[in-house]
Formats: sequence, C-alpha cells, structure tokens
Amino acid sequence: MKVAVLGANGQLGSDVCTTFRGNGDEVAALTHADIELTSAASVEAALTGVNPEFIVNAAAMHHVEKCEADPMAAFAANVVGAKHVAEWAKSAGATVAYVSTDYVFDGKKASPYVESDAASPLNAYGITKLAGENYTAAVCPKHFILRVSAIYGLNPCRAKGGLNFVELMLKLSRERDKLRVVDDEIVSPTPTAQIAKQLLALSRCNVYGLYHGTSEGSCSWYEFAREIFQATGTAVRLEKAEPGEFPAKVQRPSYSVLENQGLKRIDQNVFKDWRQGLSDYLEARTAAAV
Ligand SMILES: NC(=O)c1ccc[n+]([C@@H]2O[C@H](COP(=O)([O-])OP(=O)(O)OC[C@H]3O[C@@H](n4cnc5c(N)ncnc54)[C@H](OP(=O)(O)O)[C@@H]3O)[C@@H](O)[C@H]2O)c1
Repeated sequence: MKVAVLGANGQLGSDVCTTFRGNGDEVAALTHADIELTSAASVEAALTGVNPEFIVNAAAMHHVEKCEADPMAAFAANVVGAKHVAEWAKSAGATVAYVSTDYVFDGKKASPYVESDAASPLNAYGITKLAGENYTAAVCPKHFILRVSAIYGLNPCRAKGGLNFVELMLKLSRERDKLRVVDDEIVSPTPTAQIAKQLLALSRCNVYGLYHGTSEGSCSWYEFAREIFQATGTAVRLEKAEPGEFPAKVQRPSYSVLENQGLKRIDQNVFKDWRQGLSDYLEARTAAAV
C-alpha cells in the first residue's frame, strides 16, 4: 500500500512510518517542511506528488497552553488542515486517518468514555481537535478518527520539547531525592508503537468511522510514575501531590479514560494493558540504546 504520513518526524508519526515500512508498505514520510496543512496549495502539491491510498494525519498543533493562547493558529492546523487533507483524500478516493485526543471530553463521567458519549471539550486544543474530527468525517467518506491519550514513544514529542513522561520521571529521579506527582488526573498511558500497529490494522479494514484507541486500564500520573520506578528498579521517594499543588494554566479533563468499544466490536483492538505497554516500551528503549 502507498501511505503518506503527515507529522512524520513527530513522536507518533515516526513510529507510524516504521510500522508501515516494516509491513512492506511504501511510505512517504512528510514533515512540516514538506507539507503545510494550513495551506490548501501545499497539501494539494505534497499529496498529489505522493498519490497515497492511505493517509495518516498525525500532524497537529497540540501544545495545550499554546493552543489556548493562539486559538486561530490551532484552528488553522487542526481544523482547516484536516479539511484540506480530507478534501484531497476524497477527490483521490484515498482513506484518511485523523489522530485525535481524549481532550474532546470534559472528564465529568466516572466510567470510561465510549465513542457514542457526547464530546464536550474544556479548552481550545480539544475544541479544535473535535472540529478537525468533524471536518474529516463530513468531507471524506473513507475516514478513520482514532482518539488516543497520554501518548509516549521512543521519539521525542516535538510540541512538548523533548521528554515524554517516562523519560521525564527517570531524569528527575536522577536529579532529586523526592518527587511529587499528581494523583487526581486519571489517564490510560498509551505507547505510540501500539497506536502505529492499530493504524496499520485499520488501514487493512474498511469499517470506517470513529474509534477510541488507548491502552487497556487506567491510572493516575502518580500510579504511572510508581510503575515506571518499579519496572526500572529506580529508588526514589515518590509522593502524591496535593490537589491544586501544580495549578494548570488551562483547564484539562481530570478523568479521560477511553474504552475501545468500537475497535472491540469489529475485532480489531490491538491495545494491551497500560502496564504491559510500559514494559514493551522499556524493552524497546533498552534495545534502541544498544
Ligand atoms: N502528545 C500527546 O500526549 C497526545 C495526546 C493525545 C493526542 N495526541 C495527538 O497525537 C498526534 C501526534 O502527536 P505527537 O505527540 O506525535 O506530536 P509531535 O511530536 O508534536 O508531532 C506533531 C507533528 O505535526 C507537525 N505539524 C504541526 N503543525 C503542522 C502544520 N501546520 N502542517 C504540517 N505539519 C505540522 C509537527 O512539525 P513541526 O514540529 O516541525 O512543526 C510535528 O512533526 C496529534 O494529532 C495530537 O493531537 C497527542
């Protein structure tokens, strides 16, 4: 299959390129230097040059504080950009997979969100990603929307400037005697390598639509940190932060656990328990360091 990956040098995009290439697919890895999502002409030129059958749109403006400060820029990348990509895909008869987020929810539900739950984003990032989902779905009939959450991978997240949560915890444990981590935000930490495998599985399936795609199970950031230190044998004093100890500048959902109901219904769910995902990541990290 001929595949175009947008955001190809990003945390997720780089794993998507590796996974599809490993499957024998022909991959065009498009970085921001190759394609500017906000420009219809740039999207048209870059995608026509590649002529893909399947497009993974993993490019986004997703730094939450920056999106809040400049919602027009976030709208341009996440919404207008999604529209341009979906329009090209529709005209070419290609399929587009738009990577979205758990931040489309407000976190007020006490049990995992399913795809049919009403979205109600709390911030500009979530609002623009929800609008990008809607544009993709409305414009291009052959579409997948995959909502992911709390992602981490071997390649650094470009928007967040380097370290994922696992690497940040390990770095801080070397620098400090004691760490305090929030315990009142519940997520499903999800390795990008698994998301890439999920996108590969979806590329071979024609049950288009909206899917939740995160690790099984959930934890607080404190519990995730505890598991990281246990799994790596790291000795550090870890404490739960008090609620409000690290005040966020932008409102975020305090509970954003997603249930992969749609993927399970079509028998396509590849995700593992979040602890197993961490263990796989640590193994891949060790192998990459050799
Ligand atoms: N990171 C998370 O925790 C998280 C959680 C849930 C969902 N997501 C979603 O997962 C996806 C991938 O995230 P990630 O962590 O892999 O992000 P990342 O490492 O920051 O990569 C994003 C990529 O998008 C590119 N990009 C940004 N604006 C663009 C534009 N206007 N035109 C073309 N390319 C543009 C960036 O290029 P430059 O850096 O060169 O500008 C970068 O290559 C995003 O859709 C995000 O919304 C992320």
